[in-house]
Amino acid sequence: MGSLETEWKLFLGVCLSAWMITADGPPTADNLKWVSLDFKTILTWTTQPSDYKYTVSYASDDSDWEEGENCIRVSETECDLTKDFRIIDRTYHAQVKTEPATTDYDYDHEEFPHTYSTNFNPYKESNISAVNFTVKAIDESSVIINITDTLTAIHNSRGKQLSLRDVLRNDLKYKISYYKSGSTGKRDITSDSLTKEVLNLEPGQSYCFMVAAFIPSRATVQQGAWSIQQCTTGDIEILQALSIGAWVGIIFILLTILIIIITVTVLCCKCWRQKNTSQQSSAPI
Ligand SMILES: *[C@@H]1O[C@H](CO)[C@@H](O)[C@H](O)[C@H]1NC(C)=O
Ligand SMILES: *[C@@H]1O[C@H](CO)[C@@H](O)[C@H](O)[C@H]1NC(C)=O
Repeated sequence: MGSLETEWKLFLGVCLSAWMITADGPPTADNLKWVSLDFKTILTWTTQPSDYKYTVSYASDDSDWEEGENCIRVSETECDLTKDFRIIDRTYHAQVKTEPATTDYDYDHEEFPHTYSTNFNPYKESNISAVNFTVKAIDESSVIINITDTLTAIHNSRGKQLSLRDVLRNDLKYKISYYKSGSTGKRDITSDSLTKEVLNLEPGQSYCFMVAAFIPSRATVQQGAWSIQQCTTGDIEILQALSIGAWVGIIFILLTILIIIITVTVLCCKCWRQKNTSQQSSAPI
């Protein structure tokens, strides 16, 4: 009697869970979102935990849907479409389809949900990370900013990893923001190239600089992240100037000593030879 009851409960339980699975149905991919940094472009989504898989396909303008190379039947909730977006200045849209965990049977595609993304143009909308740069004093009232060209996630047909400058060409500029230590007034200047001289600084003062990539041709996301701040120390620059002077002095003194030694040696040799020859010529007599 007891065992029959257990079996009955078990049967009920199986029926109930089967019914719940059918009622829930395959989970949809929700909150589709583009995340793009330095042209590495990833589509992310959220979903209910399940055994289902997801396939991402994309299209641009009126082109046909294509499946993302790394995005076929994935269990993760994100997919990297960087390699698929070969022409980066193009507007793409994508969809995420839910698929059964196994493909052992023919399933009806229509039964499985798919969700569409918003449009995304990597060239116009990818975020740009903070750049690295150095600042060096040229003289007491000017410095040179030297910016390092950032590498992007884009490779050309020969497999070379392209830099921001390679990708954006003349669309890429840099914003340089600086202020005198202790003052609140900031000045902004724009540079077209990786190096920029900043002139008319107050001698002996410390200045702090920040740099960000800047793309004026864009409608939104014109500016990359600000770099960390680099400051000059007014005093140390004077010390550096002094030490350069000191080095010049030391080299000058060393050269003088060397010239004196050479002159003395040459003179001595001449004296010695003259003495020798006079001795030799007098010897036969
Ligand atoms: C760019 O960065 C901003 C700020 O962090 C973020 O809100 C936005 O979603 C990012 N856009 C992309 C396409 O990654
Ligand atoms: C800028 O820095 C790079 C390395 O960081 C160096 O190779 C280059 O010569 C520097 N350019 C200038 C103008 O200082």
